[in-house]
Amino acid sequence: MNWKPVIFIVTGLAAFGAQADEKELIAKGKTLFLTKICFTCHQTDPAVPAPAGLALKAPMFIGEFWGKEREVALGFGGKVVKVKMDEKYFIESVKMPMVKVVKGALVPMPPPPPPITDEDIAALMAYVKSLSKPQVN
Ligand code: HEC
Repeated sequence: MNWKPVIFIVTGLAAFGAQADEKELIAKGKTLFLTKICFTCHQTDPAVPAPAGLALKAPMFIGEFWGKEREVALGFGGKVVKVKMDEKYFIESVKMPMVKVVKGALVPMPPPPPPITDEDIAALMAYVKSLSKPQVN
């Protein structure tokens, strides 16, 4: 028997499954972004302002931001260093927002309303990451 087509189908299905999982995680993250009130401060759509975020100068999740460098203060008003937006920084930013405070923000981010689990943060991260796209223009 020729196993090639079988292997092809199995790996194809696995890739399809992984994609479906990722989609589900992003969808869950999108819901959490609303229910955990992230949207009130972090603008994700150029046409829909986030008033509280504008007042506090919270970073917007628009354009290509994932993997990019930003300047943060180590503690509010602390020493300024550069960090990259990656998974570790994202998780820390949500769990312990006081540790690294984006330069230019008027206040540090308040911790999100509990309960927030590691799974919730993973979903939020998948959603936020999916928003990062190169700017067209
Ligand atoms: C009351 C407003 C407010 C809410 C609500 C809020 N944030 Fe923030 N967030 C900020 C501000 C202000 C900063 C910048 C200051 C800082 O780093 O603490 C920030 C920074 C961040 C950063 C670092 C961004 C960067 O560009 O370096 C991430 C990631 C983040 N927030 C995720 C979230 C998520 C996820 C939620 C929802 C669970 C959320 N935030 C809810 C105000 C908010």
